[in-house]
Amino acid sequence: MKNLLFPACACMAILVSMIAPLPAAPASPVITVKSFGLLPDGRQTHLFTLENASGFRADISDLGGIVVNLFVPDKSGKLADVSLGFDNAAQYLAKSPYFGALIGRYGNRIAHGRFTLDGQTYSLATNNSPGDIPCALHGGLVGLDKVIWQARPAIMDGNPALILRYVSRDGEEGYPGELAVDVTYTVTPKNELRIDYQATTTKATPVNLTNHTYFNLKGEGEGTILDHVLMMRASRTTPVNAGLIPTGEIVPVKGTPLDFTSPHRIGERVDASDEQLKFGGGYDHNWVLDSQDGKLALAATVHEPTSGRFMEVLTTEPGLQFYGGNFLDGTLTGKSGKKYPYRSGFCLETQHYPDSPNQPGFPSTILRPGETLRSTTIYRFSTK
Ligand code: GLA
Repeated sequence: MKNLLFPACACMAILVSMIAPLPAAPASPVITVKSFGLLPDGRQTHLFTLENASGFRADISDLGGIVVNLFVPDKSGKLADVSLGFDNAAQYLAKSPYFGALIGRYGNRIAHGRFTLDGQTYSLATNNSPGDIPCALHGGLVGLDKVIWQARPAIMDGNPALILRYVSRDGEEGYPGELAVDVTYTVTPKNELRIDYQATTTKATPVNLTNHTYFNLKGEGEGTILDHVLMMRASRTTPVNAGLIPTGEIVPVKGTPLDFTSPHRIGERVDASDEQLKFGGGYDHNWVLDSQDGKLALAATVHEPTSGRFMEVLTTEPGLQFYGGNFLDGTLTGKSGKKYPYRSGFCLETQHYPDSPNQPGFPSTILRPGETLRSTTIYRFSTK
């Protein structure tokens, strides 16, 4: 791994090339950084651009590790930004429904904002209440999506990368232990955005890290995602109650509108009469991935037929939250001035199951001192 040249050394490089012409070098990846604006309290944020040789590009902020822009070619090679979002940091803090952000300490919901660990009960802010049932959502009032991360651009194995670090203090948002979180975003020559997560703690604590990018493979602001065709390698789900809290059961999806084991248009059954869809207002559920061994495996594919864009999601995680943008209501205007209507973006959040700290039957999310959490997710793009 080598650190990027920053201004002082960049001058040196220019100087060196003036003194002695350098032999032609292979095109090396470029990482650029610019301001992403000030937060209301005056803090500066930045936007880093990671780009491969074919123009596939991710712009990522040190605010919340947010994937702000994601430029992906269509079948004719034309690039479009396929991720919903805003064009400055202050807007993210003011009104973002977690567009593009890193989520933690605990992605998705914890029932009643309460859990008991090693005999001690912890209380979290209840910042969400579907069906009028309060819960803790996405890490609390100031989750990892709303903090500024230390950011270090780097070239890793020849690829542009951004190494982000945030140390959450003991007790932050009610969670025990000082939690050190490292997230590395990498852009590869295969048009992949790779996310590697790592975390350690000083006290036992629940951790569930994910990324909340809203995709629209036609391009952000280009209408709904209902004609996208989704497949998930998941034959089971964790049904929820009206508060979108898992009941604790793990049930087969076969014969229900949640069965995406073969490809289906998202819009095909989204409004079918089904209790789970009613609770979610559409798709907003955790699927139990067929691969449960912690090895990187294909979890889902999405195809957008008009552009030809095809996305594969690979993960080491056991679960996948497919959220179909049911809370988007047309009131938000995105970075290119277009409104984001109902169901105009979808998220595929690789994760452990919601409310695991209260669900003894689910894979554990408890991280203990001396252990290192490691998790990888890849969003890979091609066309067909
Ligand atoms: C997740 C949840 C949804 C919703 C979105 C953010 O995907 O499952 O219910 O809260 O985040 O709007």
